[in-house]
Amino acid sequence: MTTPELDVVVYGATGFAGTLTAEYLQDTYGGDVRWAVAGRSEEKLKTLVHELAERRPEAPKVEYIVANSTDRASLDALVARTKVVCTTVGPYAKYGTELVAAAAASGTHYCDLTGEPQFIRRMVDAHHAEAQKSGARIVHCAGFDSIPSDLGTHVVQTAAIEADGEPCDEVEYVLLGAKGGFSGGTLASLINVVAEAKDPAVRRVLVDPYGLCEGSGPDTREQMGVRYSHAAKAWTGPFLMAGINERVVRRSNELLAHRYGADFRYGESMRTGSGVLGWTGAVAMAGGMIAMAPALFIGPVRRLVNRFLTQPGDGPSRDDIENGFFKARVFGKRNGTVVYSATVLGSQDPGYGATACMLAETALGLAAGEGLGEPGVTTPAAALGMGLVERLNAHRVTFTLDTALPG
Ligand SMILES: NC(=O)c1ccc[n+]([C@@H]2O[C@H](COP(=O)([O-])OP(=O)(O)OC[C@H]3O[C@@H](n4cnc5c(N)ncnc54)[C@H](OP(=O)(O)O)[C@@H]3O)[C@@H](O)[C@H]2O)c1
Repeated sequence: MTTPELDVVVYGATGFAGTLTAEYLQDTYGGDVRWAVAGRSEEKLKTLVHELAERRPEAPKVEYIVANSTDRASLDALVARTKVVCTTVGPYAKYGTELVAAAAASGTHYCDLTGEPQFIRRMVDAHHAEAQKSGARIVHCAGFDSIPSDLGTHVVQTAAIEADGEPCDEVEYVLLGAKGGFSGGTLASLINVVAEAKDPAVRRVLVDPYGLCEGSGPDTREQMGVRYSHAAKAWTGPFLMAGINERVVRRSNELLAHRYGADFRYGESMRTGSGVLGWTGAVAMAGGMIAMAPALFIGPVRRLVNRFLTQPGDGPSRDDIENGFFKARVFGKRNGTVVYSATVLGSQDPGYGATACMLAETALGLAAGEGLGEPGVTTPAAALGMGLVERLNAHRVTFTLDTALPG
């Protein structure tokens, strides 16, 4: 086999998250990496390439590749030219299947920003064995869902194993705060998950805490109500991304030969504060989630949301992205007592500025052959582990093992 001429191709680069990812690569690495942008519209790609050149005139001109997700031959030609394809073409369940098929068949590494459990399940079933044979590492969820959760857990468990020779039996992830928005593409993906949930096979994946694993374990469904977290010393409500993040962390544990333990338990929530105000906030949050999910199941409501909220291609303003942040704490416990914890901090909007960095660094780690992860349909922690933590620590997302535990 000949070595591909490119390290990374950003596919969907003319969309909202894709443009941010391309800008991150240009600003951070410029000509140090052999990379290209790709998409379905040649006209939009030409404009993007021009804008990228203006950001960094001294860097070599970024090449573009035209490929449509409905044209398998164009995707085969794309993956043949690169070590890694990183894609922001979503909703992935609608537009992503053929690219995973092309990458798995050719042995090209792949990463994406999907948060759609039913899509990942289909890719595991259809392409895990093939990717194991071809050598492709197919890494889903390389953005705000689910890197902070997946790598935060990995950091805590690695510290526990190195210090004590055994992992924590439970990890609790609490989002302490975040400031950010939604893009049209993210809303379209969320709405598409709900639309597909009419299919009983999809519903089974969405309600099974181990829906992305082959085996099972002790965890039940994600938190839907109000709960006091003794570790965070605060009231918590449900966290919208828990549905995907928790399943990804459990898949990591399975792919890592149960490094976190066969009976490992994992859960996520969002901090609302202490006292009566914190409790009231948690009740409001839980009420909102309980009302939102069934409402989106009603076709006309879904169509209204689709019509009046942000459209594909749109998203938060540049100022809002730059002023965004997130902070989470990951508590590792033994018999209910916190023994290790880590803090995850992200600068910029979690789903966009921070996500662009997470996706691009995942792609670069795969291109550099980092991590000991086996090929197959895998996760950020299983594929790249502490190597990706080190990469991100040098940029917009940091993972720090806490020296002080909650007393
Ligand atoms: N995990 C996370 O934290 C996270 C964060 C942000 C986004 N996301 C996910 O990332 C995805 C993209 O979000 P976004 O806001 O960037 O969406 P977007 O702005 O709508 O971008 C979608 C991209 O897909 C391209 N596309 C659509 N149909 C195509 C086709 N048939 N062939 C080739 N390209 C096609 C679009 O091309 P054109 O430019 O030509 O229209 C566009 O570039 C969504 O699924 C979203 O949920 C996840």
